[in-house]
Amino acid sequence: MGIVLIWSLVVFLTRWISQKRRGAISYDSEDQTALYIRMLDVRVRSQLGFEQERRGSHPYLYVDFRILHSRPESAGPVSARNVRRLLSFQRYLNSSQFLRGIPASDPLSYILDDDYTGQAKLMLEKVGNWNFDIFLFDRLTNGNSLVNLTFHLFNSYGLIELFQLDMVKLRRFLVMIQEDYRSQNPYHNAVHAADVTQAMYCYLQEPKLAQTLTSCDLLLGLLAAATHDLDHPGVNQPFLIKTDHYLAALYKNSSVLENHHWKSAVGLLRESALLSHLPTEDRLSLEERLGSLILATDISRQNDYLSEFRSHLDKEDLCLTNGGHRHFILQMALKCADICNPCRPWKLCQQWSEKVTEEFFHQGDIERKHNLEVTPLCDRQSNSIANIQIGFMSYVVEPLFLEWSRFSDTRLSQTMLGHLSLNKQGWKEGRDKPDATNSRASEEQRTSVAKDSNSRVLPQGSKGS
Ligand SMILES: *[C@@H]1O[C@H](CO)[C@@H](O)[C@H](O)[C@H]1NC(C)=O
Ligand SMILES: *[C@@H]1O[C@H](CO)[C@@H](O)[C@H](O)[C@H]1NC(C)=O
Ligand SMILES: *[C@@H]1O[C@H](CO)[C@@H](O)[C@H](O)[C@H]1NC(C)=O
Ligand SMILES: [Zn+2]
Repeated sequence: MGIVLIWSLVVFLTRWISQKRRGAISYDSEDQTALYIRMLDVRVRSQLGFEQERRGSHPYLYVDFRILHSRPESAGPVSARNVRRLLSFQRYLNSSQFLRGIPASDPLSYILDDDYTGQAKLMLEKVGNWNFDIFLFDRLTNGNSLVNLTFHLFNSYGLIELFQLDMVKLRRFLVMIQEDYRSQNPYHNAVHAADVTQAMYCYLQEPKLAQTLTSCDLLLGLLAAATHDLDHPGVNQPFLIKTDHYLAALYKNSSVLENHHWKSAVGLLRESALLSHLPTEDRLSLEERLGSLILATDISRQNDYLSEFRSHLDKEDLCLTNGGHRHFILQMALKCADICNPCRPWKLCQQWSEKVTEEFFHQGDIERKHNLEVTPLCDRQSNSIANIQIGFMSYVVEPLFLEWSRFSDTRLSQTMLGHLSLNKQGWKEGRDKPDATNSRASEEQRTSVAKDSNSRVLPQGSKGS
């Protein structure tokens, strides 16, 4: 979720959650507009004390603020990237075992590594399964899920040969991408990127797409998925705006994060020289298309994309031999991949929900601590995981996936909608009756249904046909 909190969503959910909590109170549309404007107009009430207070905080906050408020003299992302690279470089040193391919010195852990390697390989054989457990895969690859998965997909699509990619450059490029995600973020980290890449792969394999996409589309789709949240600071755009962050100024308060993800990706593409053998025009056009895909993940523009999608589907005028239409479908696929957590089996859905809520609430804590207006969805005192999830599912995820399944009416789409509805039910039950025995019974029910739908999707997803 590039930026997960769109204003309209915030307004919607605030209203909805307040109704849930207070029962009778409801906003009329004037109140809603006022609330909207007030939120757009949040002012920093006190920025004093940032300097001292941030020292004693959670390590992830500390790192965030150091980078967030390092105002580069050259006013560009370049020197900010150097600060980041320094941190990334430390991470690189700490995980250099992976890069240099040196086995651990302890013979026992070497054997263990071997075993893990075997299991990771086995998992990759089923990389097209919708119930692929990216958390497990990340553990088995020692935190290298993004590099490993993306490399595997490039390889299995034959993109390395087709585009004459240098394997060493590709690996280095992917490592840089992975390192530029902030592992301190509970949600917006490299595992989320790997998860989105895996989901994107499942969509690319859907018959309508598989039959029409060119290898250039495939390359872009995977690249965009892997880089779509690059260097995400773990706070949302309104936060960057109200704390006068330089990125907000740089991108004029508009798709601030998505622009930054895109520019960071282009920076790494150039730095790694991965595509330096291609003609300049091709390179530039790839970079542009990459940007257009990443910018589509800006949730605040969700309705524009959704209504365009809907209107195409109503008119039945999508023609995938048309490059523009294929690009549009890639945008929609990436949008789906980005917010598909609630369409995964309950166990995965639940883990993602906890992580994203932790990140939201963490932002809310920072806001409260510094006397900034607390973003409604980020306020741990007035929200619960269940309420946030139910609202997000109902107003953002469901409408998108309903259209997607109109476009691609397959088993996978049915499976995703099935999980979505079960998971929503799951959150509702958890919210309404926190009684353990009740929720355990329904948990079993859910799991068995989920298993059914998984096994149905297996044959379809398992082979790159
Ligand atoms: C790297 O490892 C050292 C020692 O294990 C630790 O003190 C340091 O914080 C780590 N750095 C990063 C960026 O993880
Ligand atoms: C991915 O991980 C497997 C198992 O750990 C390993 O054999 C393989 O070399 C890795 N691939 C890449 C590209 O890192
Ligand atoms: C961005 O928004 C802030 C706060 O509303 C405002 O002060 C600033 O002028 C805006 N910047 C641009 C470039 O629009
Ligand atoms: Zn995302």
